[in-house]
Amino acid sequence: MPIYSIRPSLALRGEAQINTSKNAVLPIMAAALLCHTPVTLHRVPQLTDVDSMARVLEACGAAVTRDGRDMTIRADSLHSPADADIMHRLRASILVLGPLCARLGEAQVPMPGGCAIGQRPVDIHLRGMKALGAETAQENHLAMARGKLRGGGLYLDFPSVGATENLIMAAVLAEGVTRIENAAKEPEITDLCDFLTGCGARILGAGTGTLVIDGVRRLQGMDFTPIPDRIEAGTLACAAAMTEGSVLLTGGRTDHLRALLFKLREAGVIVQQDARGLCLRGRARRGVDVRTLSYPGFPTDLQAPMMTVCCRAKGRSVFLETIFENRFMHAAALCRMGADIRTEGRMAVVEGGGPLYGCPVEATDLRAGAALMLAGMIAQGETTLLDEHGHIDRGYERLDEKLRQLGADIEKKPGSI
Ligand code: UD1
Repeated sequence: MPIYSIRPSLALRGEAQINTSKNAVLPIMAAALLCHTPVTLHRVPQLTDVDSMARVLEACGAAVTRDGRDMTIRADSLHSPADADIMHRLRASILVLGPLCARLGEAQVPMPGGCAIGQRPVDIHLRGMKALGAETAQENHLAMARGKLRGGGLYLDFPSVGATENLIMAAVLAEGVTRIENAAKEPEITDLCDFLTGCGARILGAGTGTLVIDGVRRLQGMDFTPIPDRIEAGTLACAAAMTEGSVLLTGGRTDHLRALLFKLREAGVIVQQDARGLCLRGRARRGVDVRTLSYPGFPTDLQAPMMTVCCRAKGRSVFLETIFENRFMHAAALCRMGADIRTEGRMAVVEGGGPLYGCPVEATDLRAGAALMLAGMIAQGETTLLDEHGHIDRGYERLDEKLRQLGADIEKKPGSI
């Protein structure tokens, strides 16, 4: 149960290196279950969600070994996972459904957990599996799919990231051609397709709304390095945008961050890209309106850090959260710190520019936790951020340390209350 003690930071300066993406690594780990020979992933971030996913794969019969930042996954003898507790630790555990059904002809997977930012059903996953010829059911907290998978035409009611990933993984070993329409276009989907293609899969259209997958009999493992984490980069960019500093983010992909960078520029931040990386100077001065959307729209995972930026900027910002129905939990904590935010359903109106005051606050979910850490950096006095469930460590590798290297005054105490 970490507790962070945060004091104001006037200006962030220096360089931070961006890690490999959590949201790319997790589905690729699940995809390793499709391979008949070992998969080795490089630059794997040290995150508790990655540890939990490794345990999920082990619960499915795979062997997972780590050597520093390399992870090797061998999926020789697989079975459905029985340990509901480990499956409940993260949302991405549902991603073993497609691979297990593809390899074993049936899968029973305890319902996933993850951040409580909405209902997060799995209906799109199951409807897609059904369109691929599986019998599906959801009962007793289990998601089930059974039967030989055959290519088919699928239309997703919403371009769900997880459902697109699950269905790609189911379709690569299905007999015949699958066409997934209204597929998610996130960079992590393209990365998964790049990995699977390297293993021998036939996938066209990655990064577009229509994927065409021609099933193959077997996939071979390979060595692979997933893409950099656009959400970590975006969170650090938001931190830089709150203080009068100059921060260089190296190793990230700015082409994956365009929506955020447009908004930061609109708010008055100087954003430059050169051969070394992404440089942010100055701070956000004007409020901006933000509507979260599927990629390439503004990412819902950066909505909370961006709201903290808008508390600092002068004027009104209107946030519309269109992806998750309960993703303004950080707003209440920001208000406790003195922010002027009114929320109404999926809309939040921020009147920015007033002072924030340090006080005890709690991380209610992963990105909300990051947003509050950032808020502590611009608040007067001391902010105590309690992360009872270790949300921040699930998705950011030593975020406090990275911010500290840039000049933030943050102390992490293992603590218990
Ligand atoms: C992934 C990301 C998460 C990000 C989200 C949206 C990972 C591990 N997590 O989560 O960080 O915030 O994408 O960019 O990659 N939905 C349904 N039925 C379904 C599936 C989803 O109604 O079967 C709804 C969800 O409740 C939510 C919306 O679709 O409202 C988006 O969810 P989805 O894109 O599936 O997000 P995740 O894959 O869970």
